[in-house]
Amino acid sequence: MTDVNPLLVTELIAAGLSRREARWLVEEFMPGGDHEAIGALRRAAQRRLDGEPLQYIIGHWPFRSLDLDLDARVLIPRPETEELVGVALVELAKSGVAAPSIVDLGCGSGAIGLALLQELRERGIRATLVAVDESLDALAVAKRNALKHQLHAVSFVQSSWFDSLDGSLRGHIDLIVSNPPYVGADELASLDPVLRHEPRGALVAEDTQAAIGFSDLEVIIAEAGRWLTEDGVLICEHGDMQREAVMRAADAAGFDVVVDLDDMAGRARILVARR
Ligand SMILES: C[S@@+](CC[C@H](N)C(=O)[O-])C[C@H]1O[C@@H](n2cnc3c(N)ncnc32)[C@H](O)[C@@H]1O
Repeated sequence: MTDVNPLLVTELIAAGLSRREARWLVEEFMPGGDHEAIGALRRAAQRRLDGEPLQYIIGHWPFRSLDLDLDARVLIPRPETEELVGVALVELAKSGVAAPSIVDLGCGSGAIGLALLQELRERGIRATLVAVDESLDALAVAKRNALKHQLHAVSFVQSSWFDSLDGSLRGHIDLIVSNPPYVGADELASLDPVLRHEPRGALVAEDTQAAIGFSDLEVIIAEAGRWLTEDGVLICEHGDMQREAVMRAADAAGFDVVVDLDDMAGRARILVARR
């Protein structure tokens, strides 16, 4: 940092930002201590003080080994979803498939699928990815992130879950990963206010008899088996009150091995269902 920057950090802290966020914004908007950037920095600080998530203001954020471009068209990828990627890599290693075929349902920014492609590439494994979202806005962000990281073995499909997937993929997918919407509409108001800045369609699912906010997980778990190879794996993120519902749904869908893992905070979070 140049001499001017500590003063700006102090100014932003005095305006109400935390030290960490103030430093982040100063480093992002004033990398060279350029005085002309001060206006942009102050506008960014005001957006943050008005409650907008830092990730949207900065416009990019780390996710595993990627630096993902982000804006309000997509969910901000969460640390627990980084854990899901780790679980998926372990499951793929167990399968031992040389060139896995992967589908990411509800890809948003592309976080899960692109991180998998990147980390598999680092291990010398050439995977292919179908990134699915019903939101064209989300697909545009995911495409930008694929280009940014030179991940070319990806096709992007606008679809409601499996509805518009190419039928020739049936029975040929090694891994389906998904972090679908799983918050109930009534729950949303009681959760972190940051969520109000994210697309509602990325967060909220309808309640079902099985659980609150479960409608999307119910469809995905019920239909995934038809698309997987014989020893294919489905890995889904879910809400911490949905463990019983996901395990029952996976049993009912005929998966042979069903486990549900906690995240690092000790909350029920990741379904792993293997045929
Ligand atoms: C919780 S966000 C997850 C985004 C990203 N995978 C991540 O983990 O950061 C859920 C995503 O599912 C998409 N989505 C919602 N309903 C969908 C549907 N019926 N079919 C396909 N995608 C859907 C949303 O547009 C959103 O991008």
